[in-house]
Formats: sequence, structure tokens, C-alpha cells
Amino acid sequence: MAEKELGEQIDALAELIVKSRRIVVFTGAGISTESGIPDFRSPGGIWSRFDPNDFTYQQFLHSEGGRKRHWQLLKEMGEMMAVTEPNPAHHAIAELQKLGKLDCIITQNVDGFHQRAGNSEDKVIQLHGSMSWVQCLSCGKRHSMDEILEWLKQGIEVPRCVECRGILKPEVVFFGEAMPVGETMEAERRSRNCDLCIVVGSSLVVYPAAFMPMYALQSGAKLAIINEGATDMDGVAHVRIYGKAGEVLSQVMPRVRERLRWGE
Ligand code: APR
Repeated sequence: MAEKELGEQIDALAELIVKSRRIVVFTGAGISTESGIPDFRSPGGIWSRFDPNDFTYQQFLHSEGGRKRHWQLLKEMGEMMAVTEPNPAHHAIAELQKLGKLDCIITQNVDGFHQRAGNSEDKVIQLHGSMSWVQCLSCGKRHSMDEILEWLKQGIEVPRCVECRGILKPEVVFFGEAMPVGETMEAERRSRNCDLCIVVGSSLVVYPAAFMPMYALQSGAKLAIINEGATDMDGVAHVRIYGKAGEVLSQVMPRVRERLRWGE
């Protein structure tokens, strides 16, 4: 994106934020890559190293080999999340909440970085669950992921419930698993009620999550997309910025603060 055009788009996004009161920020794995966590579909992303067809809920439930494969990936991701931090993009969105501009964040991410950056729990809708907790599918006993990661470090390959030996599953949504109904309905309601939807770091290829920016647009909201790669909604976005989320939002927020200070 040419320098001049980038500057204009950053100003345009700042202006949309200043004029909005109920902003929904829709985030994907691309917002966490500047923290050091790979996304899924960029070159070198998770799905370039693992085959997503091997990671379905059915395979996890029905085979020890399927569970072993899942836990190998979960161990890698869990250990990465434990040693990485939210980046300026997450902090910019936390500032939107402080400015009273944020209605909510609808995230596909399971890393909990929005909460760690300062957004309150009630402002974050985690459509694909969270890596923080692991639950027994038989008796319901919950373990923290930190505890399970310790077991995995000690060489356990497929953790089992200490109470009943049942299958332990992290509270993330696997491919083929039902979406959390409450969160999905609430995300749709908030998307249809916002006045600006900002997509940050998502390829918008996984549904029903990717419907949310569409619902916002259909309800008359403005749409902005900050994403390195192309998405199917680029042509209908009011503002489209091709760039790194942390770098872009670090330039947007000072312009927002300046405009708010001068009561624009
Ligand atoms: N800044 C902006 N955009 C970025 C950055 C960055 N620093 N890094 C990567 N991107 C872009 C990529 O170009 C890509 O278009 O972010 C997007 C990430 O897309 P995906 O890897 O497909 O991640 P996501 O959209 O979150 O995937 C949705 O798919 O595998 C499932 O459950 C998983 O929640 C995930 C879902």
C-alpha cells in the first residue's frame, strides 16, 4: 500500500472510530503473530505444518492416536502462549474500551490475549473457546491448562481425568464440534447492533464466525479491515488497510486521541 494511501486510510479509520459509539472488533490469529504466535493460513502457519483434516472433534473422541496428535499441537501452542505477551494491537483495542468506544470484541482466538491486554472478561466473546481450561468429558472435572502442560512436560502424551480416567479436552472448539450457542447468538446480536465493525487479523474463511462482519454491514454499520492478506470482504469495506495490526493500530490510536482532544 502506497505511503500516502496508507496515511489516508489510517486517518479515515481514526475518523470512523471517533464518530462511532458501539464498536465491535472482530479478531483472528493474525492479531497475535506480532506476539510470536503463528497464525493458521499464512505461509509457515499452523496448517502449513499440520493437516487440518487430522484435527477434528470426531478423531479426538474416537481414537487414542487422534488424541495424541491433538495434544502434540496443543502442547506446542500452550507453551507458546505461556511465554508470549499481548502486542500493541491488543493494547490499542484495550484503549478503545477505556475511551468508552468498545461495545465488545468477538474473537476466534483462544490465547486470552485480549483479557491479558486489559479488556474486561465481559467485553470478550470467545467464539472458539479458550485454551485456559481443560474439562473431563465424563465427569466434568476442570483442570487448568497450566497443570496439564506440566503433565505433558513430564512425558504424559494423552492426559486422562484424575477422578474417573475420562477423556480430557481443552475448552476450545475443534473442527466438526458444535459452536458455543450462547456466544454465537450474542456475537450475532452485537454485530447487528454495532455502528462500526473493525476486522483485525483474520482471513474470514471459517464460518459461522466469519458471518459476524457481514451481519454488521447488513445492519448499516461501517466496516474496516486491517489484515495483511486478502479477504472476501475487502471489496465492501469502507476502510481497508493492508498491514501489520500492531504497526497500523499504533498509528491509528494517536490520531483518535488527538481528534477526541480537539472535540472533533
Ligand atoms: N497483522 C495483520 N494481519 C495479519 C498479521 C499481522 N501481524 N499476521 C497475519 N495476518 C493475517 C494473515 O494474512 C491472514 O489473512 O491474518 C490472517 C489470519 O488468518 P488465519 O490464519 O486463517 O486465522 P483466522 O482467520 O483466525 O482462522 C480462523 O480457523 O483454524 C481455525 O479455529 C481456527 O480460529 C481459527 C479459524
